[in-house]
Amino acid sequence: MTETSPLVKLNDGNFMPQLGLGVWKASDGQEVENAVKIAIQTGYRLIDTAMVYQNERGVGKAIHESGVDRKELFITTKLWNSDQGKGKVRPALEASLERLGLDYVDLYLIHWPTPARGLYVETWQEIIKLQQDGLIKSIGVSNFQIEHLEELKKQTSVVPAVNQVELHPYFQQPELREYCNQHGIQVESWSPIGGSKGDVLENDEIINIAHSHAKSPAQIVIRWHLQNGLVVIPKSTNEGRIRENFDVFDFELSADEMSTINSLQKGTRFGADPDTMNNS
Ligand code: A2P
Repeated sequence: MTETSPLVKLNDGNFMPQLGLGVWKASDGQEVENAVKIAIQTGYRLIDTAMVYQNERGVGKAIHESGVDRKELFITTKLWNSDQGKGKVRPALEASLERLGLDYVDLYLIHWPTPARGLYVETWQEIIKLQQDGLIKSIGVSNFQIEHLEELKKQTSVVPAVNQVELHPYFQQPELREYCNQHGIQVESWSPIGGSKGDVLENDEIINIAHSHAKSPAQIVIRWHLQNGLVVIPKSTNEGRIRENFDVFDFELSADEMSTINSLQKGTRFGADPDTMNNS
């Protein structure tokens, strides 16, 4: 039997797989279709895409051809910045659903707060309505800082189920994680192994821990996310690495190993800054 990921319970009562596949930069067509098919065969049930990745069609095709029941899959997509604001959200979601070939998504996220544009609160109110209409099971945000989450709390009655943010051993987001834990918001890590720009996987401490478990550095870092209670979506289009990244349920990091990795925090991002990231 294929092993699947553990689940986490969200603040709306829905369950989400803790380990999934990210498909940023996977091109639409063969590349993303292969990655998603291999992932689902391997046991992945969470697939994380976005309108702006321009590969929702390929993701949709792969999930339909996977032979796995829709109800067993957990599909996330995201609303792009130029689709924020009253009247724009429903058409954007419907277009994503059409490309995915689905009648609902499990999780829909506001991709970036783009605070300078001042639209994320009304966008959130639209997303709440779309959840009530049954087009989305769980609603959340991505790249939201504490002040943006506070603003949602002040202006609306619905707390996001998930906040997906850049998070890896060099950028651990301790204050944001603490805030989200206190408010029942599940943190989900993007670029969890430090992405292609980082050298997290070349860190000597991580390599030593990897040797002692006969695992790869990526598997150690993914395990660190899981043991921290984070949802984690490493991305890969390579069959071997897709399988490797899921082969993390047969070992455990010790408390000492966890604290060694915790001590690697540098506090510098590899990706865009949510306060200033304002693409249209
Ligand atoms: P590839 O698609 O060729 O596997 P992140 O999810 O942290 O942003 O990292 C994604 C990057 O890391 C991609 O460039 C991906 O390349 C690479 N990658 C994914 N899994 C592994 C792994 N197990 N070992 C090394 N590199 C990996």
